[in-house]
Amino acid sequence: MKRLGILLSGRGSNFEAIADQVASGSLKAAIAVVISNRSEARGLAVARERGLKAVSIPSKGLDREVYDRLVIEELNRSAVDLVCLAGFMRLLSASFVRAFPQRVLNIHPSLLPAFPGLDAQKQALEHGVKITGCTVHFVDEYLDAGPIILQAAVPLKDGDTVESLSARILQEEHRIYSEAIRMVLSDSFRIEGRRVMVEPQHR
Ligand code: GRF
Repeated sequence: MKRLGILLSGRGSNFEAIADQVASGSLKAAIAVVISNRSEARGLAVARERGLKAVSIPSKGLDREVYDRLVIEELNRSAVDLVCLAGFMRLLSASFVRAFPQRVLNIHPSLLPAFPGLDAQKQALEHGVKITGCTVHFVDEYLDAGPIILQAAVPLKDGDTVESLSARILQEEHRIYSEAIRMVLSDSFRIEGRRVMVEPQHR
């Protein structure tokens, strides 16, 4: 059974969606550890309630390399195969990315490369795009930049607010994150340049 390490900073709804899929058996993996840089993160409390290993590693006052080393050590202690960022509000160092080559995923609430960074839903709304969505991608040392694994489109409605749009995007996030994890864990992809391609037998 492949082992997931989840990194989060807040609400943790993407983590919960993954945990539900694991619990129902539709995602054949185990959640080895949930790590947060914020001890008060709701996601951490939810992980504890679910009986999962939940570890707080506060980042305050530590430089990036030192902090990342602590997180790498915990992930290795927990024998993690794949790292899933789920609302983890920190940029990872190049050495973190090197420690888990093609083994770190992130979810972002826009169709990248549009609207990277914070408040992606607000950025999309204010820009006036008609379609936005979400993206699961491999993580490199740049912000919201690595090769794209899966995307889902979400059309905007005239009456949308940041809240209503975010809620519709979140539903798609919860769906495609587990799908992307399944694909990566089954090793049924190859990467050419920036293009992540699904091997024919898994299409
Ligand atoms: C999600 O919108 C995700 O795309 C972004 O941060 C948010 C985290 O939400 N990276 P949650 O903590 O998973 O509920």
